Amino acid sequence: MEIKKVVVVGGGTMGAGIAQLFAQKGFAVTICDISQELADASRARIEKGLARRVQKGKMTVEEQDTILNRVAAAGNLESAAQADFVVESVVENLEIKQQVFRELDRLTRPEVLLVTNTTSLSISEIAGATKRPEKICQMHFFNPPVIMKLVEIMPGQKTAPETLRAVADLAHHLGKDPVVCKQEAPAGIVSRTLGQLLNEATWLVEAGVAEPADIDKAMKLGANHPMGPLELIDLIGLDVHRAKMQTLRRVLDDPRYQHPPIVDRMIDEGRLGKKSGRGFYEYGK
Ligand SMILES: NC(=O)c1ccc[n+]([C@@H]2O[C@H](COP(=O)([O-])OP(=O)(O)OC[C@H]3O[C@@H](n4cnc5c(N)ncnc54)[C@H](O)[C@@H]3O)[C@@H](O)[C@H]2O)c1
Repeated sequence: MEIKKVVVVGGGTMGAGIAQLFAQKGFAVTICDISQELADASRARIEKGLARRVQKGKMTVEEQDTILNRVAAAGNLESAAQADFVVESVVENLEIKQQVFRELDRLTRPEVLLVTNTTSLSISEIAGATKRPEKICQMHFFNPPVIMKLVEIMPGQKTAPETLRAVADLAHHLGKDPVVCKQEAPAGIVSRTLGQLLNEATWLVEAGVAEPADIDKAMKLGANHPMGPLELIDLIGLDVHRAKMQTLRRVLDDPRYQHPPIVDRMIDEGRLGKKSGRGFYEYGK
């Protein structure tokens, strides 16, 4: 599989970082979003990120220009026709992802592999929107994609073993250390395990066992975690965390993944975490 041109669909938090990573490794990347403005804004975020690396002395201005010149931005999916590889990283919504994959299946050459960065949606259901489910798998990056070493790779029911091998090779080529799951399971390894831990911390708050700051302090000092579980939920967003727990609860039909009422109350009050200025903690404007 010779890959030169990569299309990243969805230029949000993750898409911009994934596009930057591919560009840093020498690939020509096009970020496709729902409007030219959003795609341009994504490219502008990459420019800012690269400028920070220059400031820190991790990159020269010439390198910054070379990398940025590899990144194009488009307000539609048409450039997928030239793609050798496609990473989908649009919002975590099955209907929207299926719509994107239907379009990608129509636009891209039949041999092109299409991967999804979904956190917890079904790979088989996403791939089911196409005529090439054997060429589709999850390629799950971690935030921020340029820095984090891990890429989780997961098959759908019809993914071909060659697809998994090719995506794992590509992950190595990107400087990552991938883990390949043997079968499809909601939320893979890290998000599922971590989700359960974060959920347990919210149950401690619900039960009034300790203050949020003390729960976080305990996990940092006692388990050597770099960040407390409630701080992490504030960073992820309570709504995003709850959506993942709801998927796990439903798909695995397991009450261990039930979130406590306090999470619903906080979301109803608009306490979504850092992004809304309030979550388990208060944040300045
Ligand atoms: N945020 C994280 O830490 C994280 C980590 C790993 C995986 N993920 C997964 O990555 C994906 C993206 O998450 P995010 O945090 O970057 O979301 P985000 O909301 O920051 O970005 C989503 C982007 O997709 C665009 N988009 C929506 N519909 C589109 C369409 N039809 N065509 C093209 N673009 C479209 C939006 O305009 C937006 O720019 C999700 O599946 C999420 O579960 C997120």
